[in-house]
Amino acid sequence: MSELSDKPVLVTCGLPYANGKAHVGHLRTYVPADIYVRSLKKEGREAVFVCGSDTHGTPIVVNAEQLGTTPGKLVEEYHTHFEDIFKRLGINFDSFGTTDDKENHVRTIEIVSRLIEKGYVYPKTIEIAYCPKCDRSLPDRYVEGTCPYCGENARGDECDQGCGKHLEPGELKTPVCTICGGSAEYRKQEHFFFKLSEFSDYLMNYLSNELGGTTNARNYALGWVKQGLDDWCITRNLEWGVKFPGHEELVVYVWVDAPIGYMAFTEEWATRTGGSWEKFWKGDGEIIHFIGGDITYHHCIFWPAMLKGADYSSPTAVVASGMVKIEDKTFSKSRGYVVWVGEDYLDHGFHPDLLRYYLASYTSHTKELNFSWRVLQEKINTELVAVLGNFLYRTMLFAFKNYGEIPAGEIEPEIKEEIEKTLKEVGDAMGDYEFKKAVDTAMTLASYGNSYFQAREPWKLVKEDKEACGQVLYNCLQLGKALTLLFEPVLPGSMERAWEGFGLEGSVHEAEYGEALVPLKSGSPMPEPQILFTKLEDDKIGEMEAISSQRIKEAVEKQAAKKGEKKGEEKEVTKSEGMPLKAEGKTETLEEKTVERVEEKTVEKVEEKIAEKFEEEALPLIDYEDFAKLDLRVGKVLVAEKIKKSKKLLRLEVDIGEAEPRQLVAGMASYYEPEEMIGKQIIVLANLKPVKLCGVKSNGMMLAAEDGEIVAALMSDNKELGPGSKIR
Ligand code: MSP
Ligand code: ZN
Repeated sequence: MSELSDKPVLVTCGLPYANGKAHVGHLRTYVPADIYVRSLKKEGREAVFVCGSDTHGTPIVVNAEQLGTTPGKLVEEYHTHFEDIFKRLGINFDSFGTTDDKENHVRTIEIVSRLIEKGYVYPKTIEIAYCPKCDRSLPDRYVEGTCPYCGENARGDECDQGCGKHLEPGELKTPVCTICGGSAEYRKQEHFFFKLSEFSDYLMNYLSNELGGTTNARNYALGWVKQGLDDWCITRNLEWGVKFPGHEELVVYVWVDAPIGYMAFTEEWATRTGGSWEKFWKGDGEIIHFIGGDITYHHCIFWPAMLKGADYSSPTAVVASGMVKIEDKTFSKSRGYVVWVGEDYLDHGFHPDLLRYYLASYTSHTKELNFSWRVLQEKINTELVAVLGNFLYRTMLFAFKNYGEIPAGEIEPEIKEEIEKTLKEVGDAMGDYEFKKAVDTAMTLASYGNSYFQAREPWKLVKEDKEACGQVLYNCLQLGKALTLLFEPVLPGSMERAWEGFGLEGSVHEAEYGEALVPLKSGSPMPEPQILFTKLEDDKIGEMEAISSQRIKEAVEKQAAKKGEKKGEEKEVTKSEGMPLKAEGKTETLEEKTVERVEEKTVEKVEEKIAEKFEEEALPLIDYEDFAKLDLRVGKVLVAEKIKKSKKLLRLEVDIGEAEPRQLVAGMASYYEPEEMIGKQIIVLANLKPVKLCGVKSNGMMLAAEDGEIVAALMSDNKELGPGSKIR
């Protein structure tokens, strides 16, 4: 593992909310983390793997209330559900607690008290939404209204349908109570704030020089720190949660006690095993957090600041995955774009290893992953079945049938070299959190095995020279053993069977990578091998797709019915009610609208329109030479911030494949929030003469498209191109 020392490692996963079932999106956190931990252990490293249910926060209380149950009962049900799913998927936590465990209450109170003692927490009277009809305070999701930043419909703690900003209590405009639907009012109340702003310098240095993990997490977080951090309200008017020290009527905000769960679960592990939790949280053991990109802010800003303030060790790395989409659509339960791990996958008899393989190898960890049954089928059939499974099975079967044992032989230098090279490359890729690269590299060794087998033609050789054939087989079997070890982190169940198939002793889970080069014992018996992977048939995949379509259809109908109800109830439909539920859904609605509009018109009319537009805007024709003078490149926005003196301009730092990022000034401030620009791929004219705009130098130009009111950064396509890619 290239990035790490040889210290013990604590690996954690973003805690699942015990408020709903496990879906494929969740697995993008848990599966790669489990692969990583298994791989660490294979390298002989000491690794502890903890997680647990996130049980607090208003959504759980609201949900329990709606279901007529208690938060305690609700979270117990989902806690058991997640535990069961993880077990079935081979995700082996050393500790899986809940944030409602006593350990977590105690640790949270200790940390908050420490922050208070050290002067990092102060009281402040703020406006809290209050429902006069229900006679209660309305924290977070108990209230909805208008986002003060973008004007979209938003929840009390987050602008979920618009700009995505975290909202502090009291910020929401025109608050409405989510319980009775009546309008809420603001009432003054004393709450407690964490001085996040005091940690700006610390975080700037920590993020730039200390934090490891994926660069996406660091870059986003640095962008936020540069924009300036606001203090953070850490108390809520709720009964369910961890009590705020000295104020029984308040609990701490869920994002305070949730990450502290990572510590509490390490303590639970330590109590059970006699291990030390302090070596991670107070010592210099490594702490690696696996999360989805959606919770980067909490892990790279709030959490390290809290730890620093309370004198605990800082996380070594934050590994943030790209988000999972379903069939190209943003994940959404209410719109039916969801694949449940239990009822849509495991319960249909699919082997867990197939999904693990798909998630790890489909695309690199930081990119968006678009779940598709067809791609899953394709990858399983052409890679797992045709390459890895084929090699392992044909090797074992041939040896079993013709020798019944490991034949006499020794490892050829070429085979040894191939195995060594693969071990090194897989280890490095794992260390860089490049799971796809690790899997692809290991798969290359299986392809190599197939070519070796094919070229040596053992089926002919066995008739001519059984001993020479045994030598070939011996090498194939050694490759097979190496592959079994290399793939165990990704395919633990299947590789356990392969291990048995080679007649190897002990458990493949315990064996280390180093074993790959330990020669097989000639003469040791081999059992009759089993087929490891079977093809996924079209019918089965078709069936799964039909289930997905049906679910989407039902969700659309349900939403339409809901809309209809609302329309009937109220004369005027506000703009926000017509909006889709998720921010990303917006483009889709636009698309839908466009489709409708296009269908209204005849094709000719559309063509006419295009011709008209073309004529209107036609410019004189140019030669290719003229075009070739433009140095157009793909750029990735690393930093985006407002320019003080200007309402329209943003200052960007863009990676265009050069040693240093380029500074550009772009007139995008009216269309994009700075943080929306970060991470975006744009097109840059790199050889435009530099100019100064509002005192800031622009070394090139960002291209964007304009259509009346709409201005858009050009590259919204999901395919990621390397910065600096030429546009021709
Ligand atoms: N409870 C918080 C995390 C608290 S950590 C101190 C939470 N829960 S969650 O149930 O919504 O998500 C659990 C994990 O799954 C998180 O790591 C989250 O990022 C990840 N994902 C949930 N939905 C996801 C996708 N659609 N795609 C990728 N990862 C996603 O967040
Ligand atoms: Zn907003």
